Amino acid sequence: MARLVIVSNRVPDVSENSGPRAGGLAVGLADALAPGSLWFGWSGERLAARSDEIHSIVAGGVTYATIDLAEDDYRAYYLGFSNATLWPLFHMMPSLVSFDSAGYDAYRAVNEQFARALLRLIQPDDLIWIHDYQLLGVAATLRRLGVGNRIGFFLHIPFPAPVLFDLLPPAEELLQGLLAHDVVGFQTEPDRGHFLAALRQRGVCVQGNDAWHEGRGLRSIVTPVGVDVDEFNRLAVRAVRRVEARRVVESLAGRALMISADRLDYTKGLPARFDAYGRFLSRFPERRRRISFLQVAAPSREEVDQYKALRDELDYKAGAINGEYSDFDWVPLRYMTRAAGRGLLAGLFRIARIGLVTPLRDGMNLVAMEYIAAQDPLDPGVLILSRFAGAATLLPEALLVNPYDVDQMAEAINTAMLMTLEERQERHEALLGRVRRHDATAYSRSFVAALSQGDG
Ligand code: F6P
Repeated sequence: MARLVIVSNRVPDVSENSGPRAGGLAVGLADALAPGSLWFGWSGERLAARSDEIHSIVAGGVTYATIDLAEDDYRAYYLGFSNATLWPLFHMMPSLVSFDSAGYDAYRAVNEQFARALLRLIQPDDLIWIHDYQLLGVAATLRRLGVGNRIGFFLHIPFPAPVLFDLLPPAEELLQGLLAHDVVGFQTEPDRGHFLAALRQRGVCVQGNDAWHEGRGLRSIVTPVGVDVDEFNRLAVRAVRRVEARRVVESLAGRALMISADRLDYTKGLPARFDAYGRFLSRFPERRRRISFLQVAAPSREEVDQYKALRDELDYKAGAINGEYSDFDWVPLRYMTRAAGRGLLAGLFRIARIGLVTPLRDGMNLVAMEYIAAQDPLDPGVLILSRFAGAATLLPEALLVNPYDVDQMAEAINTAMLMTLEERQERHEALLGRVRRHDATAYSRSFVAALSQGDG
């Protein structure tokens, strides 16, 4: 069987003799990562100058190989073009996009640095699977350097409508970069549709889901990322017995817990979510002391201006809600700007009567799936989910909301509070079946199967 080479900007946090710390992409790829596989990416280290040194560590039979980035490249490639240009644009928020050509030059240079390091690591039959928007140009460089291996790419975030994609000054070159792959995977049908439409507009021959360009064939597939349902459920069951979880239950004093857990990112819709909670408290005063909302918000990309502004805005809104509605013995909103461990979070999801997941736009959103996986089927909570998360295409039995519509979200919180046990069970059973069908194993197997088929 061919060796699998995973390429992503970040690699899982591994230490010698232990596997990756579970979570994120590592969960999605666990099934595909057989011993002998290679995972390549950025070490997380920043140096004064570029370096071509490759560090490797073996854990659980998998080799993790990394390179360091130069400080200037980190700023221009990671903070700049990746996260101040591509990230807001691909999430269809053009007013937040900033572009400068130096950022794009660094992006190309880092993608080339990745490709040149990979060239030293790969063997002729390896299957190469590249992940996400930070690395759109790696395959094209590999092709230029003579690499003939099968190369796949999976986009974890949305692919924007062509009218927005065209705003990118290097739109043409980025699409050319994607055409260097044999397989390109998307989270949802609309993402693939946008990509194929952008190709057609540029005169690329597209038939069905395949494209041909300069003698190469490309297959586009839709294969949503998923979670390991049983593993997350086990974590949740174990975590509710932990002292931290018991302290949370005690502190609720019989009130319903509503929970949200996100990276502190403007795509996640936190300001409108806080507004919706405030609206709920003002419109349904009889339910005020019956609920406690816990927002866990892990800081992210803090050096990007829009992320700093978001934090200030949320500090203000959280203070306003608690100032207005707190009582001597009740605080309506618990707002934590630090990451919570995965185990504890699983336990809190199980305890929570409502999971509130309202991104303005999201490629998929695994928190929604984890919330379902964590529930007790006999007494499950209710998932409120943004219709603009990729997960909404898979989870129609959630209470689907428009994350820009504060009143609709406030009503959904009220509906969730009042939902009968029978309805909660019915919805949960259907949702759990769907999360199982689209789990992490299904994701990686279907991508690797497409990548292994040599007919492009
Ligand atoms: O899922 C999107 C994504 O950007 C991943 O590519 C990334 O690893 C994760 O979110 C966290 O973001 P960052 O690596 O910028 O901290």
